[in-house]
Amino acid sequence: MTRPVVHALIPAAGKGKRFGGDTLKQYMPLAGRPVLRRAVDAVNHWPAIAGVTVVLAADDRLFDDAVGAHVDSVETAPGGSTRAESVRNGLEAIRTRHPQADWVLVHDAARPCLARRDLERLLEAGLASRDGAILAVPVGDTLKRGAADGHIAATVDREDLWAAQTPQLFRIDALWAALDAALDAGEAPTDEAGVMERAGARPLLVMGTSANFKITHPGDLALAEAWFRARADA
Ligand code: CTP
Ligand code: MG
Repeated sequence: MTRPVVHALIPAAGKGKRFGGDTLKQYMPLAGRPVLRRAVDAVNHWPAIAGVTVVLAADDRLFDDAVGAHVDSVETAPGGSTRAESVRNGLEAIRTRHPQADWVLVHDAARPCLARRDLERLLEAGLASRDGAILAVPVGDTLKRGAADGHIAATVDREDLWAAQTPQLFRIDALWAALDAALDAGEAPTDEAGVMERAGARPLLVMGTSANFKITHPGDLALAEAWFRARADA
């Protein structure tokens, strides 16, 4: 059997409203390198990954100096106004430039701490799956449903609940068709698995680690710094 061709797609066209600040979170320095470069490095250079496409906002002026100049053969595509539209643009670019691509690995620019063994586990399980796979972790906290008045309305049973992460791995044609249908229907799913589920697919949950968290709020960057420092010491 010939080896499947996997392309990585990194949506990086967000505005980071919850993170705030003057510099977009994807360009904040993390242990000496921009967050986005960390995310690209995490998926680049593995033999299983044939290429990397980064989706950038139209007004992005930082990518070339911060990332493009330092990593080999990374391609770019224009962002959209939602994450789902950015991913669609990235898929379109990959399908046009690399028609031989079988699978796409979508990974958030804002998850710079992805460890090699987590990526390898996802690829191994995902490439053998029918409907693709995502990294996820079982929810550890007790979950409460909040009422509009700020009080607890109910406790939600956390058994069977997982927090979805990226990377998420799907057959590129299947994701393309499912995403097109979702966007046509006026929906903007927040992850690719949701798009596939909507189309009737049942992607695999692959056990991840909490270190692969998303930088969302300002305090998250300090956590990521600590993680990188710990890894460098290991
Ligand atoms: N993203 C994108 N295009 C958009 C919105 C988001 O490519 N129109 C990307 C972000 O750059 C990020 C990933 O999707 O890498 C996950 O999104 P999120 O963490 O929500 O980042 P932002 O949308 O930038 O942040 P916020 O929601 O706080 O504004
Ligand atoms: Mg967002």
